[in-house]
Amino acid sequence: SPQPSHTIAGQGGETHQGADDAGIPTMTTQQGVPVSDDQNTLRNGARGPALMEDFHFREKIFHFDHERIPERVVHARGYGAHGYFELTDSLADVCHADIFRHVGEKTPAFVRFSTVAGGRGSSDVVRDVRGFAVKLYTRQGNWDIVGNNIPVFFIQDAIKFPDFVHAAKEEPDRGFPQAQTAHDNFWDFVSLSPEATHMVCWAMSDRAIPRSFRFMEGFGVHTFRLIDAQGRSTYVKFHWKPRQGLQSVVWNEALKINGADPDFHRRDLWNAINAGDYPEWDLGVQLFDDEFADSFDFDILDPTKLIPEELVPVRRVGRLVLNRVVDNFFAETEQVAFCTQNIVPGIDFTNDPLLQGRNFSYLDTQTKRLGGPNFTHIPINAPKCPFHNFQQDGHMAMHNPKGRANYEPNSWPQPQGGARENPATGYRSFPQEQSGEKVRERSASFGDHYSQARQFYISQTPVEQTHMKDAFVFELSKVETPAIRVRMLTHLRNVDETLAHGVAEGLGISPLPPAARPFVPVRTDLPA
Ligand code: HEM
Repeated sequence: SPQPSHTIAGQGGETHQGADDAGIPTMTTQQGVPVSDDQNTLRNGARGPALMEDFHFREKIFHFDHERIPERVVHARGYGAHGYFELTDSLADVCHADIFRHVGEKTPAFVRFSTVAGGRGSSDVVRDVRGFAVKLYTRQGNWDIVGNNIPVFFIQDAIKFPDFVHAAKEEPDRGFPQAQTAHDNFWDFVSLSPEATHMVCWAMSDRAIPRSFRFMEGFGVHTFRLIDAQGRSTYVKFHWKPRQGLQSVVWNEALKINGADPDFHRRDLWNAINAGDYPEWDLGVQLFDDEFADSFDFDILDPTKLIPEELVPVRRVGRLVLNRVVDNFFAETEQVAFCTQNIVPGIDFTNDPLLQGRNFSYLDTQTKRLGGPNFTHIPINAPKCPFHNFQQDGHMAMHNPKGRANYEPNSWPQPQGGARENPATGYRSFPQEQSGEKVRERSASFGDHYSQARQFYISQTPVEQTHMKDAFVFELSKVETPAIRVRMLTHLRNVDETLAHGVAEGLGISPLPPAARPFVPVRTDLPA
């Protein structure tokens, strides 16, 4: 956590600026110079002009002028808390990561929940996906599970992400709506992207208006790999299951809450943790092998698909507890930088094309957002285990190599020689065989865009199905362009006829347009 103000680093907290009778420390400039008057600028005569030599005034105003940094390009509005992960069931049989080997071991964690579309100042209880990003400060380095509260995503390939986000955020000419899915650009894009249908159904479900961050599930979304001590790979999907249960609000409540208290979710988390009512999640894993992957109805690399828990049960292996609010919102929650590429020995990626693009995107955007390559030196981002390398300099460098050696190999004796790579303990990528031509065509195995959307709809209770239908009607009724509403209905007909009819009726559209022609026939034989 950040240094408390007024502490003088390197001087054992001793001050030479004095303190008043009540022991309140004397205010200083950033240079540590005691301040006599923080209410009045230095002037030439009581009613005269301000003087440039007023270094205290200039430093204070200069610093204030530079307080803002770019907000995140997505997930700008969020709220974070500290806690820990405790392993309750060893995964050593399938994974050699230190965090999964010692039952009872606690690993410090920082979690940031967020909305996706709205800016920093938008409301909490909007209809949107929620980010569920977890940083685990393991003994082998930082591992981030940068997930959402919905197990699938809108697009299959990262190259579509800028378009998707442009379409989801405020429209560029008018600058609104700031945090709603209800607008033409969003529905235009998703209705032209059949692959979005499954996720759109989740976004229109009660999952997208959670009662609180404490009552949400979290999902790593992509298929990852666990690697065992012999280098064997097992596929894995990560789940966070709230011990508080799942709760949502209904749409009318959401509208009222947003009006009365746009900070509803962040206040809820702050109050719960400060009251000692620490929220907890179980970490669950779905584990499967190549044989299952080959027999599965969908491609395990396709992030618009989930693996039904009936087919691969979720094994609970640990718990995440949030028990400490931040000392400072900006220093921790704003400056935290999650990245899918932050991964530790024993865990690896797959070729999911969305994941591969994310691996590039986060580091890139954070270098800009946090002002250069040294944002890993900010305490919230730094590992809590020792770290050594020869990276140096750049803006705000706090951890340059000590001594003579800033390169390797070098022949300097220890300790000047510094760190060396270690083939025995260092990170090794799973040596997956690769072959094939360089192409842009998407695999045909990614072609079924409707069957899981249908499976999701029919798995809902009748009340939840009505909420979904009402959400489609409400959101699409805000769309001004009739052709976009009709186009959306062509997809809903492939999801479920009752849903499509209900939405069409709510929108006053009759007759129903023909169903969109699916790339792959919709499967009606899948269980709910
Ligand atoms: C931020 C999740 C897809 C780029 C975030 C955050 C989460 C998240 C939770 C907020 C992190 C925080 O709290 O600081 C996801 C999930 C995805 C997904 C679950 C799909 C499964 C993508 C894709 C890209 C992308 C495809 C780009 C190719 C970004 C960027 C940020 C971000 C640039 C802002 C990061 C920052 O400024 O620190 N994402 N995302 N995301 N995501 Fe994603």
